[in-house]
Amino acid sequence: MEHCFGYGSAERLSGVVGLEIYGRIARLRSLAVDRSSRGLGVGKALVSAAEAYAESRQVRELYLLTTGAERFFERLGYQRLEREAAPEPIRATSEFSSLCPTTSLLMRKELIPTSQRNGSGTRDGDLGVPLVTGAAGRPTEPNQ
Ligand SMILES: CC(C)(COP(=O)(O)OP(=O)(O)OC[C@H]1O[C@@H](n2cnc3c(N)ncnc32)[C@H](O)[C@@H]1OP(=O)(O)O)[C@@H](O)C(=O)NCCC(=O)NCCS
Repeated sequence: MEHCFGYGSAERLSGVVGLEIYGRIARLRSLAVDRSSRGLGVGKALVSAAEAYAESRQVRELYLLTTGAERFFERLGYQRLEREAAPEPIRATSEFSSLCPTTSLLMRKELIPTSQRNGSGTRDGDLGVPLVTGAAGRPTEPNQ
């Protein structure tokens, strides 16, 4: 995986998400939160961290495939898209061809650069909590 974000500490990771960047578009993948940590905002924080990182790399559109979390992603601004509308780099991923089209949904979100947003620039999904922390509790850069 190209970029990987974790939530928690090195000793106890409660959630992960990955990001594959293809120029101006990227794919969010492998979002998973430990069962005991669900419902606490960890998933939302991880998606927000991945989006912020993608924005910093000039990504403008995020895509994902999901089999059970459509409502979760809808709440975060993702919209369902017909699979035929997927751009080539997304089509080329093994998951796109291997996941069952009737159960896995393609979703997309357009990222609006902070400079183009109205108001204070606050992001949807910001929780004011550490998004990615290392063993010492300090924010760390995602793996590359
Ligand atoms: C989906 C998943 C990542 C959500 O993580 P989480 O940490 O429990 O989610 P959060 O606590 O950040 O929830 C954020 C919001 O989404 C809502 N939400 C969480 N899971 C939801 C779901 N499955 N459907 C609809 N809404 C959901 C929460 O109620 C919360 O709402 P609020 O902002 O109004 O309070 C987690 O349930 C999980 O790991 N599921 C299994 C793996 C999976 O399906 N991954 C997605 C693969 S693409």
